[in-house]
Amino acid sequence: MARNRPHPATLSAQGLGWTDPSTGAVVLPISPATTFERDPDNQYRRGRGYGRADNPGYDQPQALLTALEGGVASLLFASGMAAATVLFHTLPLGAHVVAPRVMYWALRRWLAIEDASGRLHVDFVDATALDELRRAVQPGRTRLLWVETPANPLWSITDIVGAAEIAHQAGAHLAVDSTAATPVLTRPLEHGADIAMHSATKYLNGHSDVIAGALTAAREDEFWQRLVAARSGGGAILGSLEAYLLLRGMRTLYPRVERACRSAMRIAEHFAGQSKVLEVLYPGLPTHPGHAVAARQMEGGFGGMLSIRVAGGAAAAIATAAGVQLWKRATSLGGVESLIEHRASVEGAGSPAPPDLLRLSVGIEDADDLIADLDEALVGSGQ
Ligand SMILES: Cc1ncc(COP(=O)(O)O)c(C=O)c1O
Repeated sequence: MARNRPHPATLSAQGLGWTDPSTGAVVLPISPATTFERDPDNQYRRGRGYGRADNPGYDQPQALLTALEGGVASLLFASGMAAATVLFHTLPLGAHVVAPRVMYWALRRWLAIEDASGRLHVDFVDATALDELRRAVQPGRTRLLWVETPANPLWSITDIVGAAEIAHQAGAHLAVDSTAATPVLTRPLEHGADIAMHSATKYLNGHSDVIAGALTAAREDEFWQRLVAARSGGGAILGSLEAYLLLRGMRTLYPRVERACRSAMRIAEHFAGQSKVLEVLYPGLPTHPGHAVAARQMEGGFGGMLSIRVAGGAAAAIATAAGVQLWKRATSLGGVESLIEHRASVEGAGSPAPPDLLRLSVGIEDADDLIADLDEALVGSGQ
């Protein structure tokens, strides 16, 4: 790209190229201040009053995320769950919401509780089927269509362009949990979404040492202003150190995600068709039901997340997870270290995860090491 329009990878590596105007430092200082001095005439001409709304340490990571997502503004939150739940809570009491059956399980559970209490009315649907979305979204009543793509833990794909058309025709907003895709692979706002959401805990930070969330807007409309007010009013803010660490992680986002994608594809291809593995769920494989849509809306790779179904059921899957040495048996995703997890044990009743499913978050280690480790664990699982 031209020098005056650098590629997003350049913006990411350089943190938009910001330097400290007073020292020239290429890394901006952490801003721990919780309060800011008024001018003698009682004004806040420098634009900041209190740290809950105005932390200067948010400026660079928010501006960088906005640039990477192709949006107009971003907000950091204390966690991905905080970002999502603040968004749902800005809807009017009793609002109708459509959400996928296959999605991050803790948010699905939270939405089910909201539905049971009557604070929201939530219909859970198969978000891979645009017909089903069309039937569920009610013109004039539905306020928000929420989708996640690729979606935990089957890596189901939702067509964002189609979902946006359906939401907008009904007068609803479309929000996309883009945690697994990252802006490296998919920019939901460019496909018509109104809000892109991230658990920044995952790929954006990338080092398993920060819990954070983010929302990015396509427009600074009244809906967005309510979100801005809800963050400072509700107080679900990110700490100063976490904002600094998140930015540091975001500066290596592109090489981390690119490498994870390459390794995930190799791992998926290696285990597909093996007798000890019933099925590999990875949108990069032509056999995945969402492959064609993923190929259209994901650019440069299909992500670092995949799942395998182990022949022999839950016991064999758990034995496989027990047998790895390099993969870490841990929840979460998007870090530099590879993780393996028996999802049904985590998600419990109502989970779409088959009992034999292991979720794999591919890190940046050597792919051959990861394949060899999992191969040995599968052999040792007795299948
Ligand atoms: C896809 C997705 N969305 C949202 C969340 C929630 O994010 P957090 O753990 O940062 O609250 C997670 C966490 O695992 C996730 O995987």
